[in-house]
Amino acid sequence: MERFEIKGNTSLNGEVTIGGAKNATVAILPACLLVDGIITLENVPNISDVKDICEILVDMGVKVTWTDEHTLQVDARKIEKTDASLELTSKFRASYYLLGALLGRCQKAQVGFPGGCKLGARPIDQHIKGFEALGAHVDDTQGKIAAECTELKGASIYFDVVSVGATINLILASVLAKGTTILDNVAKEPHIVDVANFLNTVGADIRGAGTDTIRINGVDHLSGNYTYSIVPDQIEAGTFMLAAVATHGNILIKNCIPEHLDSLSAKITEMGGTIENYGDSLRVIGTDVIKPVNIKTLPYPGFPTDLQPQIGICLAIANGTSIINESIWESRFQYTEELNKMGAKITAQGKTAVFEGVQELYGAPIYASDLRAGAALIVAGIIAKGTTELYNIHYIDRGYEKIEDKFSKLGANIKRIKE
Ligand code: EPZ
Repeated sequence: MERFEIKGNTSLNGEVTIGGAKNATVAILPACLLVDGIITLENVPNISDVKDICEILVDMGVKVTWTDEHTLQVDARKIEKTDASLELTSKFRASYYLLGALLGRCQKAQVGFPGGCKLGARPIDQHIKGFEALGAHVDDTQGKIAAECTELKGASIYFDVVSVGATINLILASVLAKGTTILDNVAKEPHIVDVANFLNTVGADIRGAGTDTIRINGVDHLSGNYTYSIVPDQIEAGTFMLAAVATHGNILIKNCIPEHLDSLSAKITEMGGTIENYGDSLRVIGTDVIKPVNIKTLPYPGFPTDLQPQIGICLAIANGTSIINESIWESRFQYTEELNKMGAKITAQGKTAVFEGVQELYGAPIYASDLRAGAALIVAGIIAKGTTELYNIHYIDRGYEKIEDKFSKLGANIKRIKE
């Protein structure tokens, strides 16, 4: 067990470089299963979710090699088995992408029920409905998900909810299907566009990623010998942008795509912060007095649910009352109980939380309930008076690479303690 010890009352200043996007990488690695050749992926975040998916691929006979800290070579010319380890796949959420990729390449797939952060019910009915529309038979009755088909045939699929996972999974499944697939009411997040860009680089024919409708013309074969660089992580960038606001600091966020962060930049400006856009980097200058704002999380380009806990830290110390309405996940306010232990005044009920801003937070022993809550609670520790002990930090390691080093370089006093 490891924990962070954070000595607070600090402002963050300096610069930070953002890594490749977790949620693109955990989809592009399974997408490599569709490629009959060697792929080099650059700007890969060296985080535990990525290491876990590499372990699953290796267990399936795929050759995966780190050629440097952020570069992976993936050779899926030979796939020895299509039933992925139940133990490994049930550890995290993105293992469901193996279903779409394996169905596409091998017409057969089996994974454990996807695990991941506990944010409430996380159904995958839209993934299953899509696979069935393409001609697969899916059985999810025996504690695992098994899918098979003789061949996949293009179809028109309308998603009942806008889902990142279902959109990507159906892109993966239909790239090598016979004929044309039309996906309607899809998610438009930057990582969806990145998965489509990767697949088009290796020979797929996917049009419309980033809009409401995606058209995939099936191709016979995807070939290797390509190098692809993963898009910068918009959520990691947003986490540091909000850390600048919460700590009344001044941070230059390097290697980000400012357009991906428009909804957040608008809220930071509304809170009184200043944003300077340099094309591939952003400077965020905090304000002495944070103005209260209301937030509703929505699919992209709306305000991202994955930045909701981080903006919650700013609102906990804002000059007035703010309301957050979480419209994606049922249980994403668990961090507010921890913040209340630090002196915050937040009332969360169902999908709504009311934040009555307080003057200051104080250090306390607190627990991360999931990845983004964990990152947010680090920032709470940095602004709090006194010392904060943050437990359950394995959640944070799933999605942020060397987060304590990045915060330390900005002036935080944070130490990883191994018990
Ligand atoms: C992805 O999860 C991300 N994970 C999540 O990030 C993120 O919070 C979420 O998208 C929303 O942006 C990965 O990319 C690995 P969804 P995903 O399918 O794909 C409902 C993080 O911290 N739904 O877009 O699982 C669902 O219940 C993580 O990095 C169905 O009803 O999310 C939710 O209310 C946490 N049926 C909504 O749709 C389905 O078949 C959006 O879920 C699928 C989803």
